[in-house]
Amino acid sequence: MTDSLGLKNRVAIVTGAAGDIGRATVELLIGHGAQVVALDIAREVHSLALNNQVITRVCDVSKEHEVISSVALARDKCGGVDILINNAGKTLNKLVTETSTQEWDSIMAINARGYFLLCRESLKVMQPRRQGAIVNVASVVCTVGMKATAAYSASKGAIVQLTKVLALEAAEYGIRVNAVAPGVVETNILSGIVEDSRATLASYGHAHPLGRVAQPEEIAEAILWLASPKASFVTGTVLMADGGYTAQ
Ligand SMILES: NC(=O)c1ccc[n+]([C@@H]2O[C@H](COP(=O)([O-])OP(=O)(O)OC[C@H]3O[C@@H](n4cnc5c(N)ncnc54)[C@H](O)[C@@H]3O)[C@@H](O)[C@H]2O)c1
Repeated sequence: MTDSLGLKNRVAIVTGAAGDIGRATVELLIGHGAQVVALDIAREVHSLALNNQVITRVCDVSKEHEVISSVALARDKCGGVDILINNAGKTLNKLVTETSTQEWDSIMAINARGYFLLCRESLKVMQPRRQGAIVNVASVVCTVGMKATAAYSASKGAIVQLTKVLALEAAEYGIRVNAVAPGVVETNILSGIVEDSRATLASYGHAHPLGRVAQPEEIAEAILWLASPKASFVTGTVLMADGGYTAQ
């Protein structure tokens, strides 16, 4: 265990914790001595409970009552919420003309409304204690256009604006709100948008100036730094963890 980031005994909620970036983030938080409340719609989240620093709960972030009770769990069992990592996400690989209203709504419900609900409920716990840090996981498509990703990209753009506005609203409480925007990361989410993920991963890699896609742990490191006191003067920013993709 290390406390090089000042995260020991901090209470962190992580959504999408059963996924690849979520799990890597939980593992790093544990390694830094934090107490984690791990949320995911998938029951696999319970495998994280093997570590006694982690409380797990099945939670659909798009459902208001599930978010309210999950944040209450963190408050009541851990004594507060110091860190929120909004990471749960879903993709949709369809042209606008092929996207149904229901599909649009379902992406926005998870990627935009879910982030808003977690931020709102966590801030209610953080503000009286006048401390906290929120990291919202966006994507490079919050800023660049990519065909056949309209619903997903719009939701990630919404996350960035939510981040900036919340940074202003929460600053007077000493709470920081930032976003991380990854380029392509080798995770399970890609199986929903590409058929041959091996070949496509290689071609995605060439699109990044660093010549490869990211590993989940590399995104988790960026998340952790923003969540930690090491980033004490950083708020309202979007950290592009994209191998130079948006520098082109
Ligand atoms: N992998 C990439 O290339 C990439 C790039 C940019 C941004 N991101 C973002 O990173 C985040 C993590 O994705 P990942 O790549 O680790 O994918 P992943 O599929 O491994 O993880 C996503 C997790 O979110 C959970 N989830 C989905 N809907 C949910 C809901 N309604 N409530 C609660 N949990 C829900 C899933 O069960 C899954 O465990 C997402 O927000 C994604 O948009 C990923």
